[in-house]
Amino acid sequence: MDTVQKLFTFIEKSPSPFHAIENMKQELEGQGYIQLLEGSAWKLEEGGNYYVIRNSSAIIAFRIPKRDFLGFQIMASHSDSPSFRIKEYPEMEVENHYVKLNVEKYGGMLCAPWLDRPLSVAGRLVIREGNRLVTKLVNVDRDLCMIPNLAIHMNREANEGYKYNAQKDMLPLYGCESAKGTFMARVAEAAGVEEEDIVGNDLFLYNRMKGSVWGASEEYISIGRLDDLQCAFASLQAFLQAADGESIPVHCVFDNEEVGSSTKQGAGSTFLFDTLLRINESLGRTSSQYRQALASSFMLSADNAHGVHPNQPDKACPTNRPYPNGGVVIKFSANQKYTTDGMAAAIFTQLCERAKVPYQTYVNRSDILGGSTLGNISGTQVAVNTIDIGLAQLAMHSPYETGGAKDTDYLIRVAKEFYQSSVVETGSGEYMIR
Ligand code: CO
Repeated sequence: MDTVQKLFTFIEKSPSPFHAIENMKQELEGQGYIQLLEGSAWKLEEGGNYYVIRNSSAIIAFRIPKRDFLGFQIMASHSDSPSFRIKEYPEMEVENHYVKLNVEKYGGMLCAPWLDRPLSVAGRLVIREGNRLVTKLVNVDRDLCMIPNLAIHMNREANEGYKYNAQKDMLPLYGCESAKGTFMARVAEAAGVEEEDIVGNDLFLYNRMKGSVWGASEEYISIGRLDDLQCAFASLQAFLQAADGESIPVHCVFDNEEVGSSTKQGAGSTFLFDTLLRINESLGRTSSQYRQALASSFMLSADNAHGVHPNQPDKACPTNRPYPNGGVVIKFSANQKYTTDGMAAAIFTQLCERAKVPYQTYVNRSDILGGSTLGNISGTQVAVNTIDIGLAQLAMHSPYETGGAKDTDYLIRVAKEFYQSSVVETGSGEYMIR
């Protein structure tokens, strides 16, 4: 299967962050990786392969080299995408003829493209099993609901710009009057559990449209959640393909980037810090050795980037113009919303050249604020040299995003090079890539 089809399979099997992490877990287990629990003691062995999951929605995988290591080669991405969370008591009856679902926004999405397309519901259930509470993933894997537009005849100004009210305009229609009282039963049925055993849930809407490869030469790909499952997928593939080097490769996927990263499983949490510290301790190394290792560590913060838009080319910076299929995008920002600096960019472009991967640059137009990502937030917990990169895409935060067919492979190639290299401090402000 080629990379694009593998990416589509992964994204289609990952309608929620919980599913994305479960699919990564399955792939790691298939390769013999051992799960560590944060609540248990860790006994790491040289040559061992491990992963740890937090909240079922964030994961860190790593390999212990057979001899002492120089530093950590970390690639971080995120498992979540903008969506609509199903509220508690979601059913709302309309005039005894409709049942719709009460939802709230998760992250900053484009609202319009969520309308007039089949949607479904996926996420996590908390199930009571005796005196234990366990997590069970659920995907109501069929066309289940829809947010219908209002006809043009009832709002002649619809094409002049519309302000979407999340409490009024974005509620999906779930069924006719007979659907009343059935929503959680449908969810329970899809999960194969009894409705009364569900004691908690984190459920989200998702777009049912499958991935598409299109364009005159099939140069474009479209699917939901490219931001950031494309980078998360590339990170894991590269991590698994990379040969052993002199540093510890760390594949890291955080949750909640779209809502500011400040959760226990987000980039602003201690998840990465705790994990790196425990690796160090469990190998019998001192805290000084830990700090030395951090000075010779590097992070790729991988989150998708805006490509130049074909109908709005003036929205992009006049001299930094990334396009789909143009290679990995290096993101710059003077106010350090992106962590890239001259040294980080120099290190990364050397890696691209070694991997024979093209790269391009992104900077916001100086009069447009732009977005943020996880690199600078993770840096407040684990301060290492970091670069912000991504793949060029269009329609970011739409439920159906577009990218380049070649770019996933480019990112896998350079990330593989990265994971098997070490970025070693050789003097003040001096580094060597080995
Ligand atoms: Co993102």
